[in-house]
Amino acid sequence: MKIAFLASEVMPYAKTGGLADVAGALPKFLSGLGADVRVFMPLYREVRKKNLPLEPVLVDAALDLGGKRVTFSVSAHRAGGLSVFFIDQAAYFDRDQLYGTPAGDYPDNAERFAFFSRASLETMRATGFRPDVVHGHDWQAAAAFAYLKFSYADDPFFAGTRSLFTIHNLAYQGLFEKDVLGRIGLPESLFNMNDLEFYGKVNTLKAGILYATAVTTVSPRYSREIQTPEFGCGLDGLLRHRADALRGILNGVDYQDWDPATDRLIPRNFGPADLAGKNDCREELFRMFGLAAPADLPVVGMVTRLAGQKGLDIVCEALDSLIGLGLTFVILGTGDQKIQDFLLAAQKIHPARLGLKIAFDERIAHTIYAGSDIFLIPSRYEPCGLTQMYALKYGTIPVVRATGGLDDSIEEYDPLAGSGNGFKFVEAAPEALLSAAARSVEAFRRPGAWKALVGNAMAADFSWKRSAAAYLELYKKIAATA
Ligand code: ADP
Ligand code: GLC
Repeated sequence: MKIAFLASEVMPYAKTGGLADVAGALPKFLSGLGADVRVFMPLYREVRKKNLPLEPVLVDAALDLGGKRVTFSVSAHRAGGLSVFFIDQAAYFDRDQLYGTPAGDYPDNAERFAFFSRASLETMRATGFRPDVVHGHDWQAAAAFAYLKFSYADDPFFAGTRSLFTIHNLAYQGLFEKDVLGRIGLPESLFNMNDLEFYGKVNTLKAGILYATAVTTVSPRYSREIQTPEFGCGLDGLLRHRADALRGILNGVDYQDWDPATDRLIPRNFGPADLAGKNDCREELFRMFGLAAPADLPVVGMVTRLAGQKGLDIVCEALDSLIGLGLTFVILGTGDQKIQDFLLAAQKIHPARLGLKIAFDERIAHTIYAGSDIFLIPSRYEPCGLTQMYALKYGTIPVVRATGGLDDSIEEYDPLAGSGNGFKFVEAAPEALLSAAARSVEAFRRPGAWKALVGNAMAADFSWKRSAAAYLELYKKIAATA
């Protein structure tokens, strides 16, 4: 089974969120199952800076993007049995950030990622890699499905190629003005409701939903939620229309990178049989964040994009009461300026009980997973969420809002039965969060119960193995469709 995997961010090369973790791990597990996977991503400045040993694949290539000749080259990094192909186009990708600056998205993102999609397909042709399935992720790769359907419709090279589109986040749709179609080399006739038009704009994500052979999202619950007006971001009707081709496959964890027993980014390793190292991690966390909280009160960690999705406004609203419950916070995040200001102001009020770093930092992130007692994810919606699964492995108990993949992966702790791995609340409101947090504090105060809960958490297995097998099954099914 030959798979071309198109993603705009891939660990360990470039990352802004969970997509990078997924695109770094799933291909490895698929190739472990015998698939021949090639990953395609842009050669960003941050990848260039890593000075990886790259093999040239295409030199001085060019393609026509809406009447404009764009030159590019392609180089590959081969690691752990996997090939990652980097699309090198300096004007588009040799920039400080992946998608934009704090002031906003890069104005030419439509062209940048359409080009990335088109150049990836051209690379497959030029190298004779004829995929059974093109698997593209999120709006940044979605133009590939339009090119396959319209630009390569009569190309025998892709005649046997089928396609899978994965939605990691329906809220990011790649919306652009009408004239973008011409500039990315797609027929202007696609500007109609049944194709790419969406309330007067071009909706790039629609290309994936409409033209891919099948569509997945990253958890079963989110696949149902997005078919409702509440979570559908205006596309629920279309998703209901494609319901037969849509399913949710829960993301997994790459325990090679996320295991406290072997993690090289944390100050001391530990495992379920010996939690002494977790205490050291907690002390290091206090040092890092300049906190001085009593050892018998729980520390709550958060590692998160500062975006509306993540529900930080609910935390800020409930903060005084949460601290009143005895909780101390360590928060690591980057993003929205308003949310940053909100948190910085809250920190001034509670300097000893709210540790805050506005940064994107893997080492601090790992230390928070390892050194916290509780991990808070109050998302308004969450397609899958990886951080709750990472927290579990580090014996850090998730308190989550029951939505999307958070609801699929976290089971409410039942003190009588001793079952469950975390605490959930349903309403996106401070009172609901407070009540779940209060339940977690209550359990924390009973060391025997807490130990059992931590045991449950660390025993949970969200390895990619199961989900990768589900993807492979799906590829086979798709490849067999007419
Ligand atoms: P999303 O993709 O919506 O941001 P996920 O839970 O799927 O949410 O994945 C988030 C990923 O990004 C996790 O690997 C998390 O550790 C990481 N992450 C988020 N913010 C930061 C940060 N400020 N520093 C380091 N890692 C971060
Ligand atoms: C998106 C979602 C997140 C998911 C990640 C990886 O960024 O917001 O919930 O875990 O993609 O699929």
